[in-house]
Amino acid sequence: MNELIQLLPKAELHMHIEGSLEPELMFKLAARNGIDLPYKSVDELRAQYDFNNLQEFLDIYYQGCAVLQTEQDFYDLAWAYLEKAKQDHVVHTEIFYDPQSHTDRGIPFEVAINGLYRAFDDAQEKLGISFHIIACFLRHLPEQDALDLYPEILKHQDKILGIGLDSSELGHPPEKYQQVFAQAKKDGFKVVAHAGEEGPADYVKQAIDLLQVDRIDHGNRCLDDDILTAQIAHKGIALTVCPLSNLKLKVVEDLQDHPIKQMLKKGLMATINSDDPAYFGGYINDNFYQLAAAVDLSDDDIFTLVENSFKASFLPDSIKEIHLKALNSFG
Ligand code: HPA
Ligand code: ZN
Repeated sequence: MNELIQLLPKAELHMHIEGSLEPELMFKLAARNGIDLPYKSVDELRAQYDFNNLQEFLDIYYQGCAVLQTEQDFYDLAWAYLEKAKQDHVVHTEIFYDPQSHTDRGIPFEVAINGLYRAFDDAQEKLGISFHIIACFLRHLPEQDALDLYPEILKHQDKILGIGLDSSELGHPPEKYQQVFAQAKKDGFKVVAHAGEEGPADYVKQAIDLLQVDRIDHGNRCLDDDILTAQIAHKGIALTVCPLSNLKLKVVEDLQDHPIKQMLKKGLMATINSDDPAYFGGYINDNFYQLAAAVDLSDDDIFTLVENSFKASFLPDSIKEIHLKALNSFG
């Protein structure tokens, strides 16, 4: 089972690059930039990674971003993730980053996007991993902040394929972001949104009906609404599911309670992803290994989930076909 997971080439569609900042790199960048961290050691920092909900995680995640100062810092962050991705046989990745968590600290917009893009562009050649970058708006901030930032994103459309929506979900429904998402859609961006992680099924419905998303990030809570679930399955809107994140943020009490099998049974195009691997205890293959053991995934289930990762990607159809064919040679 674990050999199959390791063997299969796969795509990752839900990974926040800031959430791949390992404590060791955080300390290294803090030293390089003369920043004092409120922790004495890597172990002391890791001991904080015990969360009761999304907000407790986000508070620590945004604090960690403070060590990212220069273009090289963003390059090093991305490269560290890419080496892990390579080990896990990821051949295509669509990563999120949070521009506002950097511009709001006075880091110019170009610094993050140029550092990230350069690393992913190098990886295409050196590691054979293709990529897309998705810039997420922080939903706890007013829509006006997103509208103010949007021209910068548009200016870098050659590097940014899509727009996303993340951060604190409860109390910040998708309907709050209709204007900026409508504009992004008009300008040809792909659009995705986190919905139904902690928020209700209605937030998933809003993301689909009001933001016209191309994919739903998480989406677990859609299962509370049978009609909505059937509609999502019928439309083929993919869910980027993150099992270890769901466990660490108490979206599920136990990995054995994870609804992945139910999702597949209902015809949902679910995919497996790592979300914030440095904080949640594992990269994409760890997510597969632990989930497979907890809910007893069959080889067919694993194959379907990996196949879905390419089908749900934003790659052109001709490239999807090549990946799916390569995958079938293992089937
Ligand atoms: N949920 C919402 N916002 C986030 C997450 C997440 O899991 N990770 C980083 N930003
Ligand atoms: Zn996420």
